[in-house]
Amino acid sequence: MSFSWRICRIIATTPRTRSIEKVLGFRETYSLTSPALHRVGRQIHQQRCSVSEEQLDPFSLVADELSIITERLRSVVGSEVPNLASAAGYFFKAGVEGKMIRPMVLLLMATALNVPRHELPTDGVQETLTHKLRTRHQYIAEVTEMIHVASLIHDDVFDDADTRRGVGSLSFVMGNKLAVLSANFLLSRAFATLVTLKNTEVISLMATSIQNLVAGEIKQMTVTAEQRYSMECYMQKTYYKTASLVSNSCKAIALVADQTEEVAMLAFEYGKNLGLAFQLIDDILDFTGKSASLGKASLTDIKHGIITAPILFAMEEFPQLSTIVDRGFDNPANIDTVLEYLGKSHGIQRTMELAMKHANLAVAAITSLPESNDVDVRKSRKALVNLTEKVITRNK
Ligand code: FPP
Ligand code: MG
Repeated sequence: MSFSWRICRIIATTPRTRSIEKVLGFRETYSLTSPALHRVGRQIHQQRCSVSEEQLDPFSLVADELSIITERLRSVVGSEVPNLASAAGYFFKAGVEGKMIRPMVLLLMATALNVPRHELPTDGVQETLTHKLRTRHQYIAEVTEMIHVASLIHDDVFDDADTRRGVGSLSFVMGNKLAVLSANFLLSRAFATLVTLKNTEVISLMATSIQNLVAGEIKQMTVTAEQRYSMECYMQKTYYKTASLVSNSCKAIALVADQTEEVAMLAFEYGKNLGLAFQLIDDILDFTGKSASLGKASLTDIKHGIITAPILFAMEEFPQLSTIVDRGFDNPANIDTVLEYLGKSHGIQRTMELAMKHANLAVAAITSLPESNDVDVRKSRKALVNLTEKVITRNK
């Protein structure tokens, strides 16, 4: 029995009613559907024990380097213009620097791909080269984080968001103009670091990821009625907005290490599928998760008229849902009706299945990498595999 097939069986036997009933009937006191998610996650882990006997915390493997990157980010966004310096440095300050998931993935990927292609020179030279390459990898991680933060700053302007990472959004605190200008400044600083790598393909990959972020946001903003109900359009937009940055930067990690095109594509596939799985779980949590401030499902997407995978799947079972969605959600009763249909459908379950399919594809990319007996390489690969499980079982 194939791994993916076994996972589908596991989901098929996971009771979906509990989470849905809570969304529908007890929204005020709703507590997350984590037992179901965790049960599935544990099952994935059990299935994977042949690959991963030991639970490796992905963060702990690269914690020291993440501190170096955090420090560099704080210094690299400095400016002689005080307002610009404080705006650009806003999300790199202690306490609001975020989880640094992208730099973590990239550093783990850098080690996971550490399979020398050429005969290595004598000891001293080799050490210098290894150190130089690691610094180049850290730069890619740093650049990726700067692009990510710039996109969040822009996003908060478009979404008119008051908060981000538990503090006031930059646009809320300093205004839209300074927010947009400082995000542009972050992008230019990111490219100033990137050009020092003197690798045009890598520069082009990172430029593509910015173009995709912008395209994804515009796709979401300008979606036609037909595109709004298309799973294909939804997945493409999701790739652009959430998975393209991490997939292209994973590929960049492989390219600066002079890996083969095949290895670079496996790195790309890992990032792409991890990002897609992450967003699909995010879409589920928007309906089933418990927001700290509200104490119930936040329903942010639907309130903004954004139709995500759970509703798209529900619509396949109940096409009449589109009439309700077309009416918009100014009237909260429409949201309740959509949730009723969602509860009767397999929307959440099918979104979970899709997330798991992408998590499995991410794992497959790692297990397809050239063999290595190096302890660090194997640890990093295990950590990347474990990360897919964390993504699937997360509850916030
Ligand atoms: C979060 O969306 C936002 C993104 C993943 C990227 C948004 C991209 C842009 C605004 C284009 C501009 C980008 C650059 C680099 C100039 P969300 O609103 O769904 O999630 P949230 O809950 O984090 O706000
Ligand atoms: Mg937003």
